[in-house]
Amino acid sequence: MDIEEIEEKIKKCTKCPLHETRKNAVPGDGNRNAKIMFIGEAPGKNEDEVGRPFVGKAGQFLDFAMSNAGMKREDVYITNVVKCRPPKNRDPREEEIKACSPYLDEQIAAIKPKILCTLGKFATSYILSSYGFEVEPISRAHGKVYSSPVAMVKIIPMYHPAATIYNPSLKEQFLRDMKAVKSAI
Ligand code: URA
Ligand code: SF4
Repeated sequence: MDIEEIEEKIKKCTKCPLHETRKNAVPGDGNRNAKIMFIGEAPGKNEDEVGRPFVGKAGQFLDFAMSNAGMKREDVYITNVVKCRPPKNRDPREEEIKACSPYLDEQIAAIKPKILCTLGKFATSYILSSYGFEVEPISRAHGKVYSSPVAMVKIIPMYHPAATIYNPSLKEQFLRDMKAVKSAI
């Protein structure tokens, strides 16, 4: 399936209860030939309003970290594990991840990125376990390169950019990890 078809399907999806409270599903956007895919947790308030991923404060820092490492947002594809906003930005539930993650699998199959950069614990544990790696806490996993020879993909976990906003040392670490992503290309 091509990426536009998947995005259209997500916009109309009613597979889990999150569709009842969303304004807009947030399928993801970016370059359909991207070598790198960034995978966040779930849309927040701003993303829900406009239907695009990482357009709020966390997104601004993500954009800054990318350009600081010499990368451009228009070269990558950005999405989330869960495509509709959980009310009050609560954590996504197990059953919501289960309902929604097949879309992420389809997006990965359509774009075939070389690097999956997971942002935060939900994306990291979903992707590490789907590629057969042992799930490690984000404090240990961030910045590591997990190479899957079978899937021909590298997984590089990072802290969630929102987690770095009030924490200068995580902020520095995020910027360093982004440079590791750049040099893995
Ligand atoms: N946080 C996320 O995990 N994803 C977004 O799209 C925005 C904020
Ligand atoms: Fe569908 Fe995912 Fe939205 Fe649930 S969160 S309604 S599964 S697109």
